Amino acid sequence: MFLVLDGRGDLYAQVARALRQAIEEGRLATGARLPSSRQLATDLGLSRNTVVTAYELLRAEHAIDSRQGSGNYVAVAPAPRGAAQTTQRTAAASRYSARMRRLPPLRLRPTLPQLRFDLQYGEPLVDPPLATAWRGALGRAVARCDLRYGPPAGQRELRAAISEHVARRRGIGCSADDVLVVGGAQQGLGLAARVLLDEGDAVAIEDPSYQLAEMALLAHGARLHATPVDGEGLCVSQLPAAGVPMILVTPSHQFPSGAVMSMARRRALLDYARHHDAWIVEDDYDGEFRFAGAPTPALRSLDDAGRVLYVGSFSKLLFPALRLGFIICPPGLHDDLIGAKLLADVGSPAIEQLALADLMRSGAFERHLRHATAELRRRRAALVDGLARHCARHVLVHDSGAGMHLVGWLPHWSAGDVEQLVQHALNRGLGLHSIGPHFRRSPAPAGLLLGYAGLSAKQLGAAAQLLGQCLEHARTDPLP
Ligand SMILES: Cc1ncc(COP(=O)(O)O)c(C=O)c1O
Repeated sequence: MFLVLDGRGDLYAQVARALRQAIEEGRLATGARLPSSRQLATDLGLSRNTVVTAYELLRAEHAIDSRQGSGNYVAVAPAPRGAAQTTQRTAAASRYSARMRRLPPLRLRPTLPQLRFDLQYGEPLVDPPLATAWRGALGRAVARCDLRYGPPAGQRELRAAISEHVARRRGIGCSADDVLVVGGAQQGLGLAARVLLDEGDAVAIEDPSYQLAEMALLAHGARLHATPVDGEGLCVSQLPAAGVPMILVTPSHQFPSGAVMSMARRRALLDYARHHDAWIVEDDYDGEFRFAGAPTPALRSLDDAGRVLYVGSFSKLLFPALRLGFIICPPGLHDDLIGAKLLADVGSPAIEQLALADLMRSGAFERHLRHATAELRRRRAALVDGLARHCARHVLVHDSGAGMHLVGWLPHWSAGDVEQLVQHALNRGLGLHSIGPHFRRSPAPAGLLLGYAGLSAKQLGAAAQLLGQCLEHARTDPLP
């Protein structure tokens, strides 16, 4: 433990003063366990008796508690003295910070009160057999992991498993060497921006789009060219005629509208990239979950000019807390991307990578995907049925038959009405999320982003019924 003694008076009093100060400054929190007297004596180069006396003094002041057989704990920790100052921000120290401060508040999900049902997008599908398999794989990974720094591009076995997986499921021909393991798609997008863009460069993004990707690009200093999306995906004809260095797309399942990019648009986009030397970042966040029709091949699988960076994520395939994803690097950017990853964090955690490779090799991953696809199909059907039964007067569903969310458009509602609806539903224990903030164009069409992975089919049916009641009662004016 790190303590500085002030050299004034008896040693035991100096130790007690130093500990008291650490408690008052909040460096030792309420309930924190203090080192044993023997350990602290060794750390400070003092006799054990000195520390025992200091602890007794603090106990007498009720600053620490001792629990029989388990040691000494901080009893009270007054509010840290510097607290008021630490929350006060200094002027932005860099252009990056300044840009970040201009973004809307950064948060992953709203903190909502305890709700009966929350149709929040991004919730994981909880699968108990997966938890068991993961626990086993982690245990084995701990036992065999090389504890030295690993390869920055990722553990070899995981890169090999990923290259086989994307070949089988996404039609992408690549080798383990082309795979860069990253800390989730979010890091993949960030590394792509670092390698491809200078401050002020333009990036074409879809409108609507995924907000965290958009914010990462804005913080990086990119200028966004919002390009509309229709039922066939990105409107390629509306990309800037002069070209852009980077285009970020979600062709397999446009986020959040759900459109699947048509083959004609895919070809047009690849032609555009080739013609303008643009890089396409393909965010395939949930492309594996298709419930109807043949799976669409990844854009990357059609790219013979080496212009596509394919970004994959295990957040939807497994769970978001894993924080693992990958880039299938185009040959021309391979070394730059790996270099950027090394400089960012020296490589992703090895134990989780080995555990994931184990899961993928053992067949447990495939089993989970089969189970998750069947369960998501069931949940989606329950929500679609519920919406048809209880909400059809208001809600138009675009069912793309894929992923973990769908959009309930509200053609007769305004943005203000949707806000009112969200509040009304919240008061009745239903969490709803407007699609409005995902649009850059204004006014944004009214609609709800309905995530269904985190609720059972039964709960989704009940949530749809409750939504139907909210839709009938939230508006004070009648439908046109
Ligand atoms: C469209 C889209 N892209 C990227 C991501 C980020 O994935 P990750 O958790 O791997 O960073 C998400 C997560 O929900 C997403 O919806």
